[in-house]
Amino acid sequence: MAAALITGATGGLGRALTFEHVRHGGNVILVARHDAKLQALSAELRRVAPGQQVESVVVDFTAANAAQQVFAAVQALGWPVDYLINNAGFGGGGAFVTRSAARDLAMVQVNATVPTALLKLFLPGMVARGHGLVLNAAWFPGPEQATYFATKAYLASLGNALWYELKPLGIGVTTLLPGPIETGFAQAGQLTRTRQVIVGMAWWMCWAAQCYSVLIQGKGRGVKHGVA
Ligand SMILES: NC(=O)c1ccc[n+]([C@@H]2O[C@H](COP(=O)([O-])OP(=O)(O)OC[C@H]3O[C@@H](n4cnc5c(N)ncnc54)[C@H](OP(=O)(O)O)[C@@H]3O)[C@@H](O)[C@H]2O)c1
Repeated sequence: MAAALITGATGGLGRALTFEHVRHGGNVILVARHDAKLQALSAELRRVAPGQQVESVVVDFTAANAAQQVFAAVQALGWPVDYLINNAGFGGGGAFVTRSAARDLAMVQVNATVPTALLKLFLPGMVARGHGLVLNAAWFPGPEQATYFATKAYLASLGNALWYELKPLGIGVTTLLPGPIETGFAQAGQLTRTRQVIVGMAWWMCWAAQCYSVLIQGKGRGVKHGVA
């Protein structure tokens, strides 16, 4: 049965992807910061899908060796990872010049550095096995969250290049660009008072260009089940 490594599995999107994968008969390795939330989710999954294997790894992605901790835990399990879902992330609004550097650099670490390190660690195994799927949770550009949107643009760009490089090797790479979804995201990033106001032709052109690029690149690439 296909195994998915899902980061940020305890949050809104990660949880939905986890249930979807399990519903299609897959096994899951759940990754997040808080053990209690992971344990609760694991228990729920075992109840609804007793035939599936569920493991969890507690790692705070702000730790310097976070990706290596995840990789070591998966190696100890001995499971090949078929799907890598780079979903963990957080946002935070405010002017770039006044936001704390520590907070923004932690955001870069969680949203961009660790997903990149996980790709570096897990892709060689997928390439050796000749199959695998990657899903990176990105987002469209926007104002007032400069660092957050930049980390998401980085993932989108990385995903586009990896899709091209890895397709001949049997690996599918998908970039997830959802609209705003009500999850724990706004609370975690202190964005609950944010209204979405989209002005100007430039933004719409940028949005349309991104959609076009994703659609064109997505043509013919298949996420077979569960994760898209
Ligand atoms: N919600 C939206 O509108 C939206 C739109 C576009 C893209 N996205 C992207 O989708 C992804 C999931 O977002 P969501 O809406 O599901 O957010 P969420 O409900 O806040 O969930 C975030 C998840 O990431 C984990 N996480 C946060 N900081 C972490 C850290 N330092 N180390 C390890 N794990 C950490 C959380 O784990 P703990 O529970 O243990 O803290 C949680 O499982 C994010 O990358 C986000 O940028 C969201």
